[in-house]
Amino acid sequence: MIRVENLKKRYGEKVALKGISFKVQPGEIFGLLGPNGAGKTTTIKILTGQLLPDEGEAKIKGKDPLKDREKLRPVMGVVPEQTNLYERLTIGQNLEFFCRLYNCNLQNIDEYLRLVDLLDERDTQVKKLSKGMRQRVLLIRALLHRPEVLFLDEPTSGLDPSSADNIHRLLIRLNMEGLTILLTSHNMEEVDKLCHRVAFLDKGSIVVMGSPEELKLKYTNRKMKVLIKNGQELEERILEMDSEESARLLAEWIQQDRLQAIHSCEPTLADIFVMVTGRDIT
Ligand SMILES: Nc1ncnc2c1ncn2[C@@H]1O[C@H](COP(=O)(O)OP(=O)(O)OP(=O)(O)O)[C@@H](O)[C@H]1O
Ligand SMILES: [Mg+2]
Repeated sequence: MIRVENLKKRYGEKVALKGISFKVQPGEIFGLLGPNGAGKTTTIKILTGQLLPDEGEAKIKGKDPLKDREKLRPVMGVVPEQTNLYERLTIGQNLEFFCRLYNCNLQNIDEYLRLVDLLDERDTQVKKLSKGMRQRVLLIRALLHRPEVLFLDEPTSGLDPSSADNIHRLLIRLNMEGLTILLTSHNMEEVDKLCHRVAFLDKGSIVVMGSPEELKLKYTNRKMKVLIKNGQELEERILEMDSEESARLLAEWIQQDRLQAIHSCEPTLADIFVMVTGRDIT
């Protein structure tokens, strides 16, 4: 669905992308993860035909985002980083305007508004909406023409957990119906929960790519955290997974009926980012 090869982009002296490559298969949710300034928005802008790369190639269904813009218009939906709704118009008017532009069915509007719990706000001016509501309107606007692939630039940045969850559930549902999704985020938990595959972007380069499960296995330290009873107290011990000593200790604690819990010390995506780049994502 998406193919990116050796994409490079600089703004004057500032290098934003140093030659990134990745592919996104139909039906996948793919996450571009990285700190501020990593190049996430630049990548999305190139993929959605808003920016020309200096070198390399980006293709959506084999077509060029800029040259084949008209052909790709029905295929793609875009949720931009900045809200670009008409502030003085109502939600309904904004969406109707977009529907006319894209020649899509006006009846889709109410269907989607109901889906994100905004039907009662149809006649509210956009300037009176909260950030979470705006984000939902932006998302609907990107979906009205029923695209095959959706690009979202930090869809839940600055939202409270319940609004973010609302958006996550909708994205998962749309994906189950076949929508391919590329999103950017600097929220590791969000990406872990939603994405089939992720790429860590750091200073314009992809430093790691894979499914969250693959990455956690690859970067595991093969240790486990064990809780044992010690009289009235609970004691925490860290054991190596691959050692006879661990096996012996575990057997002993089980026999003595002291074993309370075993947890694998699986790294989070945030831990992996630190391991790979030496820096925190925030
Ligand atoms: N219009 C521009 N002019 C000059 N430099 C720019 C411009 N847009 C982006 N940059 C620079 O390019 C780099 C990548 O920016 P980009 O917006 O793609 O990052 P990002 O990963 O989206 O960051 P954020 O998490 O803050 O949204 C940054 O160093 C940024 O300062
Ligand atoms: Mg950005």
